[in-house]
Amino acid sequence: MRDRPQIIVGLLIFVGLFTFPIWRGRAASTSTAAPAVKLPVAEKQCVAPLEYMRTSHMQLLIDWRQQVVRDNQRQFHAFNGKVYDKSLTRTCLEQCHTNRAEFCDRCHKYAGVSGPYCWDCHNSSPQFTAGNGGHQFPALNVAEGRSTR
Ligand code: HEC
Ligand code: HEC
Repeated sequence: MRDRPQIIVGLLIFVGLFTFPIWRGRAASTSTAAPAVKLPVAEKQCVAPLEYMRTSHMQLLIDWRQQVVRDNQRQFHAFNGKVYDKSLTRTCLEQCHTNRAEFCDRCHKYAGVSGPYCWDCHNSSPQFTAGNGGHQFPALNVAEGRSTR
């Protein structure tokens, strides 16, 4: 029992060291809170449940691309019974996330996701080019005599 003080001191040092990252975070006034993304005002529901979108929005987009480009399937029958156009610009951006910088980019920056490179081609400016399918290169397609969809 003579060891009791040493044990208590040892325990205190252990707890202190163990929780050090928390104290350091407090001192540096950093936080592990999620990034403050700007949510859409008009719409309250996404094309898929929130939990799914949080983990798998990139997979959904890739699936959409695959289905549109390879199978010409452009309609998405959502979990809430609504039907959406499978389109990155026309649906995700135009209808809800009109400010890409404050939604997509803000979280990607926070999470250290580089890119994505989608914007090399897909239009994401606030002034979406109506009628060109949300792509930045309709002129190129027109010049080649192809559809501008
Ligand atoms: C090199 C140019 C290019 C890049 C880069 C690109 N796309 Fe596309 N994408 C296209 C073209 C062209 C289509 C076909 C357009 C159509 O038929 O409506 C398309 C179609 C799509 C579609 C379905 C149609 C639509 O209007 O959205 C989705 C979804 C899509 N791409 C997602 C992505 C995602 C996600 C990325 C990034 C990971 C990406 N694309 C990168 C050129 C590109
Ligand atoms: C709340 C956070 C968050 C928001 C908001 C967000 N993303 Fe992401 N996104 C992520 C994370 C985290 C990853 C990386 C996941 C991984 O690497 O497994 C990612 C990855 C992606 C990828 C795949 C990139 C690659 O190179 O593999 C695409 C495409 C993408 N996001 C598109 C979007 C678009 C478009 C929006 C806005 C409409 C958006 N994201 C909004 C967190 C977010």
